[in-house]
Amino acid sequence: MAQDEGTVQAADADVGGLQRALLAEVASAGDLDTLDQLRVTALGKKGRITALTKTLGQLDPDTRKHLGQRYNRLKETVAAAITARKAELESEALDVQLQAERQDVTLPARPLPAGRIHPVSQVTEEIIAIFGDMGFTVAEGPDVENDFNNFSALNMPPEHPARQMHDTFYVEAEQDGRPLVLRTHTSPVQIRTMLAGPPPHRIIAPGRTYRCDYDMTHTPMFHQVEGLMIDRRTHMGHLKGCLTDFVRAIFERDDIPVRFRPSFFPFTEPSAEMDIGCKRQGGELTIGAGDDWLEILGCGMVHPKVLRAVGVDPDVWQGFAFGMGIDRIAMLKYGIPDLRTFFEADLRWLRHYGFGALDVPTTRGGLSR
Ligand code: PHE
Repeated sequence: MAQDEGTVQAADADVGGLQRALLAEVASAGDLDTLDQLRVTALGKKGRITALTKTLGQLDPDTRKHLGQRYNRLKETVAAAITARKAELESEALDVQLQAERQDVTLPARPLPAGRIHPVSQVTEEIIAIFGDMGFTVAEGPDVENDFNNFSALNMPPEHPARQMHDTFYVEAEQDGRPLVLRTHTSPVQIRTMLAGPPPHRIIAPGRTYRCDYDMTHTPMFHQVEGLMIDRRTHMGHLKGCLTDFVRAIFERDDIPVRFRPSFFPFTEPSAEMDIGCKRQGGELTIGAGDDWLEILGCGMVHPKVLRAVGVDPDVWQGFAFGMGIDRIAMLKYGIPDLRTFFEADLRWLRHYGFGALDVPTTRGGLSR
């Protein structure tokens, strides 16, 4: 029996009151910080419950045992209440955060307010889309080329008269005893492609090219796209079919007449120039059936000497190549009269002739809008 009933009853009552007070404070703690402070003041080293347990030492054994258990239960009850309230507050905080960061993923994308795609970029993408569908991949080469890739390997040895027609820009640096050049056409990418790996090949190579020339239809920097297909049985019929499909796709007219005229390039044999039908009336040019022709590209069967120059056996492999001006296609397709305006960086021009950033051309979705 406890020595002092009065002390025990009073202590019991105190514990009951403290527990009610603490639980009420826990229940009303409005945020995690307040709750944590409450934990420290109740259960911490210098907390109120800890202070109570320190008084036990002065009591007689029975009272100490009784009150000791009482204090322990108080501690557990308060600790459990704090843990439960903490979980509650955390889940409330998460709800608030989720609500604040809510995104409606069903909203349509907003159109970009500014910025236009240059017609050269647009037409390049259109060309890639069309040849991509035919199984061609995109290859690239540098603007500064060596003499071998730009000329010699393409059957234009030093002193070859065809070199003069290229109005070449020379760079003040040499490789293998010959000056480097700004590439005069994209044909060196044929050489790079064939040196990089064994046939078969099926690539197009769009990019910048340079010739010293300047008027309505010529600028010192312009754009070409090269095509190269090498396989065991590729012949002139494939060349014609492929390029006929191409012009009809790019100009989005199925009835465009085409013709191939014999021509000359040192790196193809036979060589041809491809014309498309057009009509010229009152200064207006319309692509399609008409009584006139428009030259659009150069092409031919890759010359055996070119194949030999890159270690490909012309008795096993053969194929075709073509090259055309991208800017010229853009001028024809979008009715832009002066090539020089392409490179003047005039924002008003770009707003007028440019394309929306999201109008990505595909052969299925439409090449131009
Ligand atoms: N490289 C030639 C030019 O710039 C075009 C061409 C490429 C012709 C490939 C035939 C084959 O005029």
